[in-house]
Amino acid sequence: MIRVKREEEIGLMREPCAIVRDCLSFVGERIRAGMTTGEIDELVYSFIRANGAEPSCLGYCGYPASACVSVNEVVVHGIPGDRVLEEGDIVSVDLCAYKNGYHGDGARTFCVGEVSEERERLVRVTEECFYKGIEGLKAGTPLYDIGARVQRHAEANGFSVIRSYTGHGIGREMHEDPSVPNFGRFGTGPRLEANTVLCVEPMIAAGGWRVKVLPDGWTAVTADGKSAAHYENTLVVREDGVEILTL
Ligand code: MF3
Ligand code: CO
Repeated sequence: MIRVKREEEIGLMREPCAIVRDCLSFVGERIRAGMTTGEIDELVYSFIRANGAEPSCLGYCGYPASACVSVNEVVVHGIPGDRVLEEGDIVSVDLCAYKNGYHGDGARTFCVGEVSEERERLVRVTEECFYKGIEGLKAGTPLYDIGARVQRHAEANGFSVIRSYTGHGIGREMHEDPSVPNFGRFGTGPRLEANTVLCVEPMIAAGGWRVKVLPDGWTAVTADGKSAAHYENTLVVREDGVEILTL
C-alpha cells in the first residue's frame, strides 16, 4: 500500500535528504585513484554522524557498512573494503541517512580520473535516465511511465536496464511501497497521488542486464562483467511536478 505523506512529514524528510545530498558531494570531491572503497565508507560514516544522523544502511538486513560502493562491473550493493580505486574506474556511492524519524536516499556514480569514452557516456546517460524518468511526472502519472521513460532513453543509447533492482517508496522505512522499476510500459501501474515520496534510481549497464550476486550475499555484478552505473534521488510527487529532496 502506498502511503502518501503529510506536508509535515515531508518537512521532516528534508533534513536527512539534505545530509544525503551534501554527503554525496563531500565524497565526490574526495574520490581519487589509490583510495580504497573502505575509505569512502569511513568518509560517509563520519559525515553522516557529524550531521546528527544515522547511516540507515549500517546493519540493515545485516548489511555491514554505511554506504554501498560499487566499482565498474558492480551494479549495486558493493560492500566497501580493500578494493583500491584505479584511474579509469567508475564508482557509484549509494547512501541513506536517518534523522527526524525519516530516511533520505541517494546515489551518484563518479569517474576516477580519466575514464574511457564508453564509461563516461554510461555515467552521463544514467544521470540523464533519471531526468527522463521524471519528465512530466506529477500527481496522476501512471507509476510505470517512470520506468518506461528510463528504459527508452537507456536503450536508445545502446545500454540496458537492470531488472532485478528497483527504486522504491521511502519515509519512516528505507524501503516502502511502491516498487519503482526502471523498465515498463507507458500508461500502466497505479496513478501516483500528490505527496507520494519516491526514490527514482536508474541502474544502467553498458552490456546485458543480467546480474549475479556474489557469495557475500550482497554484491551484485553484471553477468557479462561490463560496467554499470547508478544515479538516485529522493523526490516528492506534487500536483504540478516533482520536488527533488536530495539535490
Ligand atoms: N540505497 C539503497 C537502495 O536504494 C539501499 C541499500 S542499503 C543496503 O535501496 F543496506 F541494503 F545495502
Ligand atoms: Co534507494
